[in-house]
Amino acid sequence: MSNDRDIVSVILVENNAQLLKHLQKTIGLIDQVEIVGNALIAQEALEMARDLKPLVALVDYNLPDMNGINLTEMLRREYPNTQVILISQDNYTDIVLQAIRAGACDFITHDVSVKELTDVLKRAAALAVQDRVKPQYPFGPAITEKGPVVHGAANGKIITVYGAKGGIGTTTVAANLALAMMEVNKDSRVVLVDGSMQFGDAHLMFNELGQLSVMDLVPRVLDLDREMVESVLLLNRLSGVYIMPAPPRPEFAEKITGESFARILEYLRRIFDFVIVNTNSYISDTVLSALDAGEVVVVVTAQSINAIRNTRLFFDLWNAVGMTKERIHLVLNRHDVESPITTERVSERLKFQLNTILPDDEAAARKADALGQPILKSSRDSDYSKAVVSLAEQILKRIDTVEKSEAQRLRLFVTA
Ligand SMILES: Nc1ncnc2c1ncn2[C@@H]1O[C@H](COP(=O)(O)OP(=O)(O)OP(=O)(O)O)[C@@H](O)[C@H]1O
Ligand SMILES: [Mg+2]
Repeated sequence: MSNDRDIVSVILVENNAQLLKHLQKTIGLIDQVEIVGNALIAQEALEMARDLKPLVALVDYNLPDMNGINLTEMLRREYPNTQVILISQDNYTDIVLQAIRAGACDFITHDVSVKELTDVLKRAAALAVQDRVKPQYPFGPAITEKGPVVHGAANGKIITVYGAKGGIGTTTVAANLALAMMEVNKDSRVVLVDGSMQFGDAHLMFNELGQLSVMDLVPRVLDLDREMVESVLLLNRLSGVYIMPAPPRPEFAEKITGESFARILEYLRRIFDFVIVNTNSYISDTVLSALDAGEVVVVVTAQSINAIRNTRLFFDLWNAVGMTKERIHLVLNRHDVESPITTERVSERLKFQLNTILPDDEAAARKADALGQPILKSSRDSDYSKAVVSLAEQILKRIDTVEKSEAQRLRLFVTA
């Protein structure tokens, strides 16, 4: 019944008895919409989505066992053929944004009118139907228009962004650098690869959410083709940057070996001019793989004892494994002129010259976060943006130097 032609099948996920009644009554007034299930808790909703395959799930923000945003994320991930509409008491911007980032297609408040609910449900159902007739990976690419052009040779440059301490702004640098590379190198094709395998959040900086990730390439890693690789990429239309998301759950991280990741990065060189890799501080095999693959490694540090200590330990490791310092571009993020740990002291402690200094700009970072856009998009005139553009220019020069000197790479994971 739920998949009958022209009938919009809906599951209602609502714990508040009064609201449930109100919604049932309102939906009862709408033609060709049928409630196929009522779930009081998230767990029940997941089972219903699996068994009933509804076109639409109406999910309340407040549920006893899970927040509606998390449920939205799970439903979209596990049952992508069901569209989710989030219901909340108020339409606060942050809730709306969270809902969209979690993959909801729409948002309504408790006092929704029959007319509005009709429109929202029909729109959601149309989307769900459209998705069901679209061929799914691996039979067709997710990106069809303006797809990247394939180069014959593997000419693209890999730039790996690494911070030896968490939370110091590594992903922010990677996301903004991706945009800046497009700006300083007009018409270049740029992909931001999220190599922070457990808790990757690079896609959130662009307010994008996909269903596939780097993980979906692993089973076919020995025989990658363009269509398959493109199918896991998200295109951020606002900026033109492509994004390869990290796995959706932390426990999937271990499915990606250093070797698989190296192969994927090498393949991306063929399709893109610049491959920017976001990483996390823990040096796993995949992070090592990205550090090894990068023509240039942007090392982010900060004016704190911990960050300096970890960066020093990282440099020791880098030297110990025999990689050359030429490939490193050292960036101080969140520069605070008032800090007693001056830039000179940072440089002295690290025995390394600071190559680029990015200012601390809380207002711009907050705005970027709220809009789901990198700072370079949301605050183009900020000092941070200007500094990132200059970082991109310096990196281009460094790539040139590194290539001329054939700086040493270990090729730990890929031999061919
Ligand atoms: N230059 C800056 N000025 C002000 N705030 C910044 C700056 N750079 C980053 N931030 C803020 O710092 C926070 C952490 O940034 P980000 O997520 O990029 O760090 P990270 O090092 O990637 O963290 P994680 O280790 O969790 O991956 C974010 O809220 C971001 O907006
Ligand atoms: Mg990060």
